[in-house]
Amino acid sequence: MSNPSLLILPGDGIGPEVMDQVTRVIDWFGAKRDLAFDVSTDLVGGAAYDAHGTPLHDDTMAKALEVDAVLLGAVGGPKYDDLDFSLKPERGLLRLRKEMDLFSNLRPAQCFDALADFSSLKKDIVAGLDIMIVRELTSGVYFGEPRGIFEEGNERVGINTQRYTESEIERVARSAFDLAMKRGKKLCSMEKANVMESGILWREVVTKVGEEYPEVELSHMYADNGAMQLVRAPKQFDVIVTDNLFGDVLSDCAAMLTGSLGMLPSASLGAPMENGQARAMYEPVHGSAPDITGQGKANPIACMLSFAMALRYSFDQGAEATRLESAIEKVLADGARTADLMGPEGGTALSTTEMGDVILAALDASL
Ligand code: IPM
Ligand code: MG
Repeated sequence: MSNPSLLILPGDGIGPEVMDQVTRVIDWFGAKRDLAFDVSTDLVGGAAYDAHGTPLHDDTMAKALEVDAVLLGAVGGPKYDDLDFSLKPERGLLRLRKEMDLFSNLRPAQCFDALADFSSLKKDIVAGLDIMIVRELTSGVYFGEPRGIFEEGNERVGINTQRYTESEIERVARSAFDLAMKRGKKLCSMEKANVMESGILWREVVTKVGEEYPEVELSHMYADNGAMQLVRAPKQFDVIVTDNLFGDVLSDCAAMLTGSLGMLPSASLGAPMENGQARAMYEPVHGSAPDITGQGKANPIACMLSFAMALRYSFDQGAEATRLESAIEKVLADGARTADLMGPEGGTALSTTEMGDVILAALDASL
């Protein structure tokens, strides 16, 4: 049997720096765990624009549709701010999501014990936190038509459309219920059914799907209240399901509960391919971080944890995913810190490569 295939798209900013460390980890699994991948690498975002004049070349798109999983670093940077909307680095990412039909975006927010002090919230509010946001990723206001900037009378009007079909809501709801069944069996759905028709439909459909999952305790919350509850008492949640735009905002909010954006992975899953496996892309939640690009400071952990999610969700290697997550937890408990994880007491920050070194050493020690 051939090896599972992985397309790596390091992208822009700190993307390539953190991906270098993940590549070391991937190689480690090949050498030490007999878990080799056929890895290919390509361009996305600004890097693709610089080389090809487009944020995602058609050949790269085609490759992404062929592989078992895509691992993406980050896209964007100030250099591309003035580009036409259709050429911006972000369009490359959005095209991947849309054409791979990655409708279910899993964003876990987990607070590592060693980092509970780093949250902007009080330690007892976040210690032990383990929630999962399921964000709808291929529809809603991100893609709805009509959209654009139009002339109306003697001024311009900017238009975007929030649009959800029942089947779009249904499939993401089902993926969230399935996850809740494997976790704490609690699901909270967030929308604005008090002001939006799409929110009313969202609530109806989620409730209907919920009838198939009598064991899951389903609740509904307006998204603004959800934002408040996330910082007031985040541990009340297990799985949250929400639309594309609310999910974008709420997941950044949840991310900061854990202390650093440099820690958070994500998985974007689509419909099953011919082999029965879901089409998938994995990426850290942090962006390209132009302010620290090229300084060797970036935290590679979010990207490594994204690879761990790939091991779990695409390659059915839950035990090896846990091995990697445990190695990361171990080095953090031992005090390994990149610059983003420096508390007020200071200390010496590890470089991106040094963090890679200690994690690889912890992986070796796990054998
Ligand atoms: C995210 C990002 C993207 C989004 C941007 C880069 C297009 O913020 O993945 O959360 O808005 O979805
Ligand atoms: Mg975002």
